[in-house]
Amino acid sequence: MHIYNKIKFFSFEKKMINYLCEGWSNKRHWNFFQEVFSRKKKFKNIALLGVYRGRDLGYMCSALKKNNGKDFHIYAIDLFDFKTPFRKVGNKKIWQQDTNILEPSIQNSKKIVKLLGCKKNVTFIKGDFLKIKKLKSKLDFAYIDIGHDYNTTFQAIDICKKLGSENIVFSGDDFYDGYTLGTPWGVKKAVKKKFKKFKIHYDYIWESSLKNYKI
Ligand SMILES: C[S@@+](CC[C@H](N)C(=O)[O-])C[C@H]1O[C@@H](n2cnc3c(N)ncnc32)[C@H](O)[C@@H]1O
Repeated sequence: MHIYNKIKFFSFEKKMINYLCEGWSNKRHWNFFQEVFSRKKKFKNIALLGVYRGRDLGYMCSALKKNNGKDFHIYAIDLFDFKTPFRKVGNKKIWQQDTNILEPSIQNSKKIVKLLGCKKNVTFIKGDFLKIKKLKSKLDFAYIDIGHDYNTTFQAIDICKKLGSENIVFSGDDFYDGYTLGTPWGVKKAVKKKFKKFKIHYDYIWESSLKNYKI
């Protein structure tokens, strides 16, 4: 494909994903996935913890197919609704209790994956993120964007570490002093606790590696 058409094609994909998938991610996240997945490194097995309505999933598929063709697999996990029993964090309010937002949707997420031609590259897992413990594949990349409280983020990093290949890239959203329903986010604290060193992309997205994981 001519380079100009290629650029036009991928910016069309970004617009389509943003239009069809409600979410918070924006050009920072798009650029982050484009940059990471163009590195000279093998990204075969990927876990996305927190899918919502498929926006980051669409961004990932778009970047991965550009660089890997069809040679990748994403395990996309989410509670995918407000009804599935969710973990309580003391008496603090969390994600699934914010009924002002549109409900997460597996159908919507499947739709975008199909439109991008990546149906065979994604396995959807509905339920608590602890379900990924059963994965047999070694992860090369994990993106954590579930509940933003400290314990959840801490635990998610640990699980991904157990499932990771020796070159796993850990990353996640919302390295920021935000709130969900008045509950302060704990992503920053958990990342600082779990890694000796990490990078922050666009003042918002964190990244680290196995060699920086604190035992
Ligand atoms: C900030 S949203 C994720 C946004 C998403 N990455 C996107 O592209 O729009 C957080 C998601 O995490 C999910 N979630 C929260 N707690 C979870 C848990 N314990 N296990 C699995 N998913 C969870 C919610 O259902 C919600 O869809």
